Amino acid sequence: MTIMEQRQSLPIYKLKDELIKAINDNQILIVVGETGSGKTTQLTQYIAEAGFAARGRIGCTQPRRVAAMSVAKRVAEEFGCLLGQEVGYTIRFEDCTSNETMIKYMTDGMLLRESLLDGEMRNYSCIMLDEAHERSISTDVLFGLLKETVKVRKFSRWRAQADDILCDVVMVSRAIAVYFVTFNMIILSVEVGRMG
Ligand SMILES: Nc1ncnc2c1ncn2[C@@H]1O[C@H](COP(=O)(O)OP(=O)(O)OP(=O)(O)O)[C@@H](O)[C@H]1O
Ligand SMILES: [Mg+2]
Repeated sequence: MTIMEQRQSLPIYKLKDELIKAINDNQILIVVGETGSGKTTQLTQYIAEAGFAARGRIGCTQPRRVAAMSVAKRVAEEFGCLLGQEVGYTIRFEDCTSNETMIKYMTDGMLLRESLLDGEMRNYSCIMLDEAHERSISTDVLFGLLKETVKVRKFSRWRAQADDILCDVVMVSRAIAVYFVTFNMIILSVEVGRMG
């Protein structure tokens, strides 16, 4: 199979248009899907294909450094670029990104540090908090911060178009849904048969 065929064979691919529409229509989105369905590797690329990169980077957090590096490597291959160009990663003491980087994987701790410098996350058009069900301390704190960030961004006129925060939450969707209940938010469940 070519890389394109592999991407199209993933369960999440069938929901691509629905996901892009949901991301365009909602400020916060929670995606629930089975392991291996393609959330981590595909969603960032769908968001890029939907044109978000023109408004800022697409960020995706991982609780572990190794995951941030390895998934960035895989997505760069799928994207057809060198790691650190359009697709890159940042972990503590290592920044493998460039001016071209539109999809950036990073540890949740790194995004937390960035948020101290820029509470409005102006560099990002969309942020995906991956593995949210693991409830790492940094991801949990980011939920609190981003909840405030989306409010600010919603009301700041010049950022009106760039107010989308995507949350990828697996398994604890109910708890998170209650937490974000004040937002225009939907929960999309990616139905997945197990991969072959
Ligand atoms: N480095 C890689 N080389 C080859 N295939 C890969 C690689 N990384 C991921 N894949 C394939 O891509 C598919 C999607 O992986 P992805 O990590 O996006 O799934 P996921 O929905 O995020 O799963 P999880 O819930 O376990 O995080 C997997 O089924 C796997 O077969
Ligand atoms: Mg994943």
